[in-house]
Amino acid sequence: MRFTLLLFFVLLVGCGPQDDSRPSESERMDIEAEIDTTAVVSAGQEISGAAFQTLSRNLQQAVKEGGVKNALEFCNVRAMPLTDSLAAHYGIKLRRASHQPRNPVNRADSLEMETIKEYIRKIEQGGELKPVTYARGNTITYHAPIRIPGQLCLNCHGSPGTDIAQSDLKTIQELYPEDEATGFEMGELRGIWSIQFPPGHFDQQDE
Ligand code: HEC
Repeated sequence: MRFTLLLFFVLLVGCGPQDDSRPSESERMDIEAEIDTTAVVSAGQEISGAAFQTLSRNLQQAVKEGGVKNALEFCNVRAMPLTDSLAAHYGIKLRRASHQPRNPVNRADSLEMETIKEYIRKIEQGGELKPVTYARGNTITYHAPIRIPGQLCLNCHGSPGTDIAQSDLKTIQELYPEDEATGFEMGELRGIWSIQFPPGHFDQQDE
């Protein structure tokens, strides 16, 4: 009888934590990430690094030449072609995706949303954000975080009125009537780099 009672308690206690730990998105992601990710991650880092450099060099130049308004117009016209030409150069698909996009074209799809939610959770827990890879069919996808690293970004993505000047806010709203990309703070997740490698991409590189 005593043994039965003890067993009962063990089972009860044992079940407790399990109820909380339903298979989370992060676990699913870890399972999907079980491909040889080293080559994918290093290619992803190289490409997103190059894209970041290109965009931020051009952005800084545009601010210098004509202030935030000029840079807004520049980003409006040039951000996509710049990332597209890099993508063409590497033979991949490349985009910046966001849960709060400025350009509606950049709205995260469901896979991108999974990564974004996971990153936001990690930030809340004070964890480190690492690139994630997915293999779906023959396509390999790479995601990496884009956080708000500095004051420059807040000129156009921070709080209206304090970080963003009224006149710049007006320009933003004219260019992007559906804008969702304000109100960000330093360190917050702004979006992700999303790269798709076509089938055979890594085979060719091995030759
Ligand atoms: C001069 C204003 C300006 C500054 C400064 C700026 N951005 Fe943006 N950002 C924009 C505009 C405009 C777009 C939309 C571009 C497009 O239409 O393709 C954009 C788009 C983005 C996107 C793509 C997702 C989306 O919302 O459409 C990300 C990610 C992003 N910005 C991150 C940053 C980060 C990080 C910084 C700081 C390094 C930064 N931005 C600085 C104006 C700016």
